[in-house]
Amino acid sequence: MITVRVPAKVNVQLGVGGLRADGFHDLANVFFAVALGDEVTATAGAPGSGVTLACTGPDADQVPLDGSNLAARAARLLAARHGIEADVHLAIAKAIPVAGGMAGGSADGAAALVACDALWGLDTPLPVLLELAAELGSDVPFALLGGVALGRGRGELLEPLPVAGSFHWVFAVAEGGLSTPAVFRECDRLREADGTGSGADRVPTPDPSAELLAALAAGDPVALAEALSNDLQQAALSLRPELADCLRAGLEAGALAGLVSGSGPTCAFLAKDAAGAEAVAEALAASGTCRAAHPTHGPVPGARPLDTVGPAAAV
Ligand code: C5P
Repeated sequence: MITVRVPAKVNVQLGVGGLRADGFHDLANVFFAVALGDEVTATAGAPGSGVTLACTGPDADQVPLDGSNLAARAARLLAARHGIEADVHLAIAKAIPVAGGMAGGSADGAAALVACDALWGLDTPLPVLLELAAELGSDVPFALLGGVALGRGRGELLEPLPVAGSFHWVFAVAEGGLSTPAVFRECDRLREADGTGSGADRVPTPDPSAELLAALAAGDPVALAEALSNDLQQAALSLRPELADCLRAGLEAGALAGLVSGSGPTCAFLAKDAAGAEAVAEALAASGTCRAAHPTHGPVPGARPLDTVGPAAAV
């Protein structure tokens, strides 16, 4: 039996370029892994059992337990790559908000790759795991890597970034989820509506912000707060206008900055220190603008077995 812990992510910069012919958008995506995470436990199944799934946690009823679950797809993909049968039971302990813009499904896919690799004694090299992860979804490779990284392409081409110290965050969980494709489609619709256009010929792919990279490298939360940006925020707010109330409540509670996490609807707030994050979380929970508020910190390493210690693996 192997248990793998895997982080959620927030995008400290999510620069969205134009819509490509393959339906994806080119990104300048700065991923940041936070301690709020899931655990996936892999147990050997009887021969011929295939992949079976279970999920526990407050939002477990919202997690699909069929073959579409990214953890199940990851186990099958890894087994196929090695020409073995995928007979495994995967138990997901879910803490990451479901359909919340924090890559919770992607995290479980990455955790399943690492857990099954260890359970089956495969020793798959990290570059191969990253390739399989990219097949599963744009955010899955980062969940393997953790730390802070720039994602180019559709987000799967990763370059680890230097970061000093720890940053303190609060995540405000909304009622219900948002569909990532729907938020990208709304972003395109808003660009068409304002005359910008949405195609890759009309929207250049943004570059990572120099101010943001400097703030991360310096471990400076005030500078990072000023540099946070998310090109999907307007689209998420257009689909869920009430998120503006949550963003306002976090700022009134003393957060340095707030933004929608990825495609939302979770809102992320940067605090100046751990005590600040506790205070913001308490005020948000009492504000009535979110379902729950979790203080946490980062960066943390990517998916790894619970008994493993050491720095995030290099690509
Ligand atoms: O790669 P993943 O399966 O997570 O992507 C889900 C959906 O999000 C895609 O089908 C696409 O609609 C949208 N997406 C996008 N551009 C990206 C990543 C995702 O349009 N870079």
